[in-house]
Amino acid sequence: MIIKKSEYAVSAVKESQYPKDNFPEIALAGRSNVGKSSLINTLINRKNLARTSSQPGKTQTLNFYRINGEFYLVDVPGYGYAKVSQKKRQEFGEMIQDYLETRENLKGLMILVDGRHEPTQDDIAMYQYAQYLDLPILVVATKIDKIKKSQVNKAISVIKKSLGLRDKDQLLTFSSVQKFHLAELQGWVEDRLED
Ligand code: GTP
Ligand code: MG
Repeated sequence: MIIKKSEYAVSAVKESQYPKDNFPEIALAGRSNVGKSSLINTLINRKNLARTSSQPGKTQTLNFYRINGEFYLVDVPGYGYAKVSQKKRQEFGEMIQDYLETRENLKGLMILVDGRHEPTQDDIAMYQYAQYLDLPILVVATKIDKIKKSQVNKAISVIKKSLGLRDKDQLLTFSSVQKFHLAELQGWVEDRLED
């Protein structure tokens, strides 16, 4: 995939604010701090178009980035961040649910899990929810630069096992630092846009 142009388009908390130009969309979900915004930047080869932070809870709205004037990458607020108030968490949950359940332009969902750890209950719930919605799913194990090469296969099998990964869903290991598997990731996006 050749990224000719990438631009921030809009932030939305409700349907009336979603883009209206009817381009296909690929969304990213995952726990706070797992590396969603970083993955977007890596994918489009920009340092900080999607705002990242070492503090969890950075992304608080659905952020739409228009790529090549053809499709959107949608950065979704992270779940599972304990310091977010109960009320805010519920609002985030409803915002994400509304988007994932109603958006016809949505062509695929990347679910990011931390490659260093066993998936959490929230990760498992998100994976099952995406199956229920019948979305094309790519599981991405992030921050893979932080584990020893010799431990990568073990980490992959732990993730596959705890998610109960289906044969039809791919899992990619990824690092925004080393840009590991970038071509595969872009390839998956391209395939979804053509489906
Ligand atoms: P929220 O917006 O809070 O949901 O977080 P997020 O999932 O968007 O995470 P973000 O991309 O902001 O990254 C969180 C932190 O992890 C930042 O300090 C990043 O630099 C770091 N990080 C992200 N991806 C990687 C990676 O592949 N390797 C390493 N070593 N650090 C990473
Ligand atoms: Mg973010």
